[in-house]
Amino acid sequence: MTVELQTRVFDRNEPVADLVLEHSAIAPVLRRHHIDFSIRGNLTLEQLCELNGIPVEVVISDLEQAVKKPDLHPITDPRAMSPAALMFYIVSRHHAYLRDVLSISAGLALKVERVHEGRNAPLKRIREVVHELRSLLEPHIEHEEVVLFPSLLENSLSPEELVRESKASKEDHERTSNLFSELRRLTNDYTPPEWACSSTRGLFHQLEGLEADTLEHVHLENFVLFPRLAALRRT
Ligand SMILES: [Fe+2]
Ligand SMILES: [Fe+2]
Repeated sequence: MTVELQTRVFDRNEPVADLVLEHSAIAPVLRRHHIDFSIRGNLTLEQLCELNGIPVEVVISDLEQAVKKPDLHPITDPRAMSPAALMFYIVSRHHAYLRDVLSISAGLALKVERVHEGRNAPLKRIREVVHELRSLLEPHIEHEEVVLFPSLLENSLSPEELVRESKASKEDHERTSNLFSELRRLTNDYTPPEWACSSTRGLFHQLEGLEADTLEHVHLENFVLFPRLAALRRT
């Protein structure tokens, strides 16, 4: 079997949300550089690098390396999905994963804090942030599944309701992104400390996966699903 390697020259003036849609392989590189594509993806690569104080050339070189590797798990381009199919994909893939991993992580964070009390590590704050994420995201996805997605599909919201819903959704997504930035700092980019037991390693691993999946999920809603529905309302 021959696998064609991709080459891609990245332009610093392209919006980052579009780049992630074109190449899912670059998302981990952006996360590693603390570049938030799920909320600020409308900004260009250059603008986001400037915000984070990182030389854009360094990021571009890492992105070009990332896309050279063959993508062995390509997913259907979400831009080609209908709004209903996209909602089903978000709920069945991202919401289901989020519920499972939030619950596992909350249990692990509590256990790790109890077992390693007294260690010089911010385990209490990690447990609190996981709890805050859970209190924020469980009602958020429940609301999307029961109220927001069905009413968007039916186009049954009044203009005032739409403004309110869109503001609330945006605020929740921003809070989510901020909480993950804090988790990344608290866990030193999800690097387990040298004393870490299997539960601590498991917790850091789950949290890193949770961040990756949630940013991808929020990016899909902010930059594909909601703009698509807004465009349909205008036609
Ligand atoms: Fe969602
Ligand atoms: Fe959402």
